[in-house]
Amino acid sequence: MSPTAHTVSTSMVEYDIGVLPGDGIGGEVIAEALKVLDVVEEIFGFRTRRELMPYGAEHYLATGETFPDAALDRVRDMHALLLGAIGDPRIEVGKLEFSIIAGLRFGLDLYVNLRPISLFHESVCPLKDKKPEDIDMVICRENTEDAYAGIYGFLKKGTPDEVAEQTMIYTRKGTERIIRYAFELARKRGPKKGAKAPQVTLIDKANAVLAQELWTRVFAEVAAEFPDVETDHAYVDAACMWMVKNPEWFDVAVTTNLFGDIITDLGAMVQGGMGIAASGNIHPGRVSMFEPIHGSAPKYKGQNKANPLAAIMALSMLLHHIGEVPAGRKVEEAVESVVCQVGNLDAGSNPTDMLGDLVCAAVGDGSG
Ligand code: IPM
Ligand code: MN
Repeated sequence: MSPTAHTVSTSMVEYDIGVLPGDGIGGEVIAEALKVLDVVEEIFGFRTRRELMPYGAEHYLATGETFPDAALDRVRDMHALLLGAIGDPRIEVGKLEFSIIAGLRFGLDLYVNLRPISLFHESVCPLKDKKPEDIDMVICRENTEDAYAGIYGFLKKGTPDEVAEQTMIYTRKGTERIIRYAFELARKRGPKKGAKAPQVTLIDKANAVLAQELWTRVFAEVAAEFPDVETDHAYVDAACMWMVKNPEWFDVAVTTNLFGDIITDLGAMVQGGMGIAASGNIHPGRVSMFEPIHGSAPKYKGQNKANPLAAIMALSMLLHHIGEVPAGRKVEEAVESVVCQVGNLDAGSNPTDMLGDLVCAAVGDGSG
């Protein structure tokens, strides 16, 4: 279980939050999220003790260290972690991403990668005639197995006869816990506007990746425990098509790690792009990590062009996780109002700090 929040002498609740800005635009977008956190703390009457974690490319180049075990142990004692972005063109592809992002996901057993896809205003949607009520889904991506388990290898590397292999693994336990999480989430969300019941869609490729028959079976078993939740199924290729053509068909969806990675980039686009899409890497009841879906975008670094709304939405998810639900909701509403105000989420369309200031102002507006 996560450590219980500390109570300080003023009887104000205090949380330990790790802050890992990382690389590229990470620092700039996290700075805006922290500005918003300052404002919500003031309004909602709680505090955070923030511990800055320096990991990322600069730290690696200076020390040779990616993400030490001691850092993971520190994080275990915290309530949550806010991460900016990891990745730097000077360093071998995947090295930092795997040590830090996957290191946290695996090291803390963050088995849910929760990726809400909500459209806040039709002006930011690339799809014709889609409105906010049409795009309101949550993808539950399994976060600790599949091709990400790190089982791979090469034979005869560098020769014309080279063989490369990577194994997709699904455990009974891992499959069941993410599917159960999705059903519980659907029940908690309740029916979507106009629907009779909440719905969970299983997205897989069991017609080609035959091992995913485990998902088919476990999904049916868990579904039987939730007679109040409707079920649906889509193969991942078709799901990509439906997410563009009829996104209103989706409510909660559950899928494997790799497919979840891919379809949530598609999902990010239909909600307005990488400037807004956030995710939670969650182990319910334990320390969890929150991050924007976007990467480090080195070309925008230091130019005040990156959109901080995704990082601010990650903060909103973090607040929900630590139990500051009204604060989390307020931040989300503030982001929604800013999206309606600016109407364009692309990098460079609005200065990073200005967007952060607008969210702070919206949080302060008539709240409490
Ligand atoms: C994501 C990212 C990561 C993933 C990378 C950076 C390893 O794309 O969080 O979606 O593939 O999970
Ligand atoms: Mn991804």
